[in-house]
Amino acid sequence: MRRPIIAGNWKMNNTRTDAKALITALVPLVADAEPEVVVCVPFTAVETVAAAAKGTNIAVGAQNVAWADKGAFTGEISAAMLKDVGAEYVIIGHSERRQYFGETDATVNLRAVQAIKNGLKPIICVGETLDEREDGETERVVSSQVRGAFEGIAEGMLANVVIAYEPVWAIGTGKTATAEQAQETVAYIRKVFASLYGAALAQKTRVQYGGSMNPANAAELMSKPDVDGGLIGGASLRAEEFAKVVNYKGAAI
Ligand code: PGA
Repeated sequence: MRRPIIAGNWKMNNTRTDAKALITALVPLVADAEPEVVVCVPFTAVETVAAAAKGTNIAVGAQNVAWADKGAFTGEISAAMLKDVGAEYVIIGHSERRQYFGETDATVNLRAVQAIKNGLKPIICVGETLDEREDGETERVVSSQVRGAFEGIAEGMLANVVIAYEPVWAIGTGKTATAEQAQETVAYIRKVFASLYGAALAQKTRVQYGGSMNPANAAELMSKPDVDGGLIGGASLRAEEFAKVVNYKGAAI
C-alpha cells in the first residue's frame, strides 16, 4: 500500500555536463521501475537534470532549502527558486548538514515547514551516530529528531512527507545496517510518527533506509515490512548501479 521510493543523493558531485550524462544513462534503465524514482542533485544541476528527466518517471530534487521566502540569507536557495528550476523533492536535515553545517532539529523543522508550504516534497533525514548506537541511545535520538523535525506541523500538511532513517555510521562507510537493524529502527520511527499523528497517517507515510545501500543489499533491506525505500549516496553516482537498486525486485534475496 506504500509505494516504495528510491532516491539518489548525489551530494556534491557532478557538473552540469556530468549530470546530464548520468541522467541520460539512467532514464532507460529505470523506465519500467515499480518504485518511485528520485534524484536529488546539486543546486547547479537541478535545471539541467529536470530538463533531461522531463516526461520520464524520474523526479528531481535538491539537497537543502532555505527557511525563508527571500531576503538577506547569503548562500541560501529558496523553495520558490527550487520549484522554478524544476525540483519536486528536497532532502532536509541530512547528517552531513547536521555534522558540518550546524543544522539542528530546529532548523530542520523550519526548512520542512517552508518546503511543505511551497509544495516541495521533503525527505527528512534522521539517524544516530555510532557512539549513540553503542550507548543504546538509538531510539532516544531518532525519537527526538522526529519530534523536533515535525514540531508544530499540522497533520494536514504531511501528505507528501518522506522520512529517511540514515544511521550516521553507515553513511559512506560501506557499513550497512543489517536488514533487521533497519527494520527495527524504521518501525520505531513509524511508531513515534504514529504517536504524533495517529496510526492511519503513519501507515501511509513512507520511511526509507539510507547508508551504504547498494545492488547487493537492496533486495534484502526492501524485503522488510516497514522499509519503504532507500536514500542512496555513492551507488547513485553510477547509472547501472543505481538502476539495480531501483530494480531490486529482479534481484535475488
Ligand atoms: P551512502 O550515502 O549510500 O553513500 O552511504 C547515503 C546518504 O548519505 O544519503
